[in-house]
Amino acid sequence: MLRTATCGELNKSFVGKTETLTGWVDTRRDHGGLIFVDLRDRWGITQIVLNPQADPGMHKKAESLRSEFVIRVKGKVSQRPAGTVNARIPTGEIELQAEELEILNACLPMPFGLEENNVGEELRLEYRFLDLRRREMVENLTFRHRVLKLVHEYLDKQGFIEVETPYLTKSTPEGARDFLVPSRLNPGTFYALPQSPQLFKQILMISGYDRYYQIARCFRDEDLRKDRQPEHTQIDLEMSFIEEDDIMGVVEGMVAHIFKHARQIDLRLPLRRMSYQEAMEKYGSDKPDLRYGMELRDLTPVFEKSGFKIFDQTIEGGGQIRGICFTPPAGVEFSRKDFDDLTQWIKTYGPKGLAWFKVTGLDQVESPIQKFFDAARIKKMIQILGAQPGDILFLVADAFKVAAASLGALRCFLAEKYGKVPEGKFELLWVVDFPLFDWNQEEQRCDACHHPFTSPKPEDVPMLDKDPLKARARAYDLIINGTETGGGSIRIHDRAVQSKIFQLLNFTPQQAEAQFGFLLKALSYGAPPHGGLAIGVDRLITLLMNRDSIREVIAFPKTQKGTCLMTEAPSAATERQLKELNLDAKKMWLERPKT
Ligand code: AMO
Ligand code: AMP
Repeated sequence: MLRTATCGELNKSFVGKTETLTGWVDTRRDHGGLIFVDLRDRWGITQIVLNPQADPGMHKKAESLRSEFVIRVKGKVSQRPAGTVNARIPTGEIELQAEELEILNACLPMPFGLEENNVGEELRLEYRFLDLRRREMVENLTFRHRVLKLVHEYLDKQGFIEVETPYLTKSTPEGARDFLVPSRLNPGTFYALPQSPQLFKQILMISGYDRYYQIARCFRDEDLRKDRQPEHTQIDLEMSFIEEDDIMGVVEGMVAHIFKHARQIDLRLPLRRMSYQEAMEKYGSDKPDLRYGMELRDLTPVFEKSGFKIFDQTIEGGGQIRGICFTPPAGVEFSRKDFDDLTQWIKTYGPKGLAWFKVTGLDQVESPIQKFFDAARIKKMIQILGAQPGDILFLVADAFKVAAASLGALRCFLAEKYGKVPEGKFELLWVVDFPLFDWNQEEQRCDACHHPFTSPKPEDVPMLDKDPLKARARAYDLIINGTETGGGSIRIHDRAVQSKIFQLLNFTPQQAEAQFGFLLKALSYGAPPHGGLAIGVDRLITLLMNRDSIREVIAFPKTQKGTCLMTEAPSAATERQLKELNLDAKKMWLERPKT
């Protein structure tokens, strides 16, 4: 080793010893004759004192040091003089009196200071090698490592084994587009990068590898958002001869183990469970954030035949009037413009309008539409929403789904904007009893709500023929603070049921055979009942560390446009590469991005 200790290691017990440290110059301060250098590595920071009297040659070298130079220093550990102790860092009571200094490498002037707070994300990502030197990033990646270590420990104890599955494979649909990789050896054909190891883990169950897990990379070509990356990591697991409770039990045990040992937080188990229906009714979301109230309520009965046309027509058409009650923070007054802005905002979720009422008494409100309703109706509305004078009521009249989802979004928006989300609080729950299918309006067909391999509830199987949209799935999602952090299901292990599902998803038998022939075949060779789940690691770490974006907990993330600003991937291929892959080289070459 070029050093005898790290920059985070030395303390009072080393005083008097000679040690050699290596690292980066975090700061250099000239104090008259003395030069102080804060030397940094990923373990910490140690103060170095360079005294011109000790060695004038060394001191000259020290004067040439700049930020982020890489150096090696040998010297004696000494106690810091009284009044200069830094209690905030573990090495704060000592300093190293330099006797030898070696510059191992220089550094160009920095594009940003590592201690700067408001560096643009694009610059940070372009210079990720520098950004990763920042203390916060070191903490994020170290914490991530710890959590994965806890996962390995826990699952190993529970009898799971980690098995790797291929990245060059066939399509595994999880609702996104596939990334394709052209095959040179098989001209005209493509591998798909897996959207998850779903089919391989099911095959492993059929092969008898009960209790599989994998820290797996998943690739999905989808539109990126704050909590989505084109490649993400999952804690993926699968078990045989089990039911929902068994999977949920193992997973919540694992999550509690992580919370306890990574964050010193004791979770109360079992986690609460909520049906999809209840989540939609009360929170307008299948991933409810339970850290704050503002539950949605059904006000349809209050407004039956009120004479207000929009409400009457909605109710006659089978829709609902739903509402939430918002208590503005002290001193916040909503203006007409605020309501107009919220109305425009909520329209992007589907409803044609937003009704609002300022509560001024137990049966009194202020609103542009109050004149349509008598005091009894107003009183009832205030009662149902549990409102107090000063509160604001927001109502949407529309089909249940639109009314619920838009108010659910408004609930989260108001909570975020007006500081209603308590800090440091964790609310975990399972959402269960999902529908098996969603209706794909564009293509006029069913879409799998979870994925096509999810088992319907046994009692709902007869529904598959009559009214498939009413069938419920044996699926469960783990929600933390309003984020879908994990999802899984009991799988179909019966070939006939699996074929039926493919048919409902509009696959012809030929298409199903071409894409999933190997699964259908394997299901015919002794497939055990099985099921599993996957947790999104990036999302879990982001939540545990209370970071703003999953990009903060991934060493080399991509931008919203799926690019890597450091390597400049994706980039054009050479004509020769394309030719070797039997792609239409000329066309792609002509259409390549010009740089
Ligand atoms: P699902 O598609 O629900 O299930 O994914 C599981 C979890 O992975 C995380 N996740 C993502 N994280 C970051 N970026 C993305 N683009 C992204 N997509 C998903 C989420 C999500 O809850 N094979 C099934 C699991 C199973 O049934 O066992 C699956 O992949 O936290
Ligand atoms: P409009 O006739 O569209 O100007 O709407 C009159 C008022 O009715 C609006 O200011 C809203 O308060 C309310 N409103 C309109 N559409 C809806 C709706 N879909 N849900 C709730 N309130 C609505």
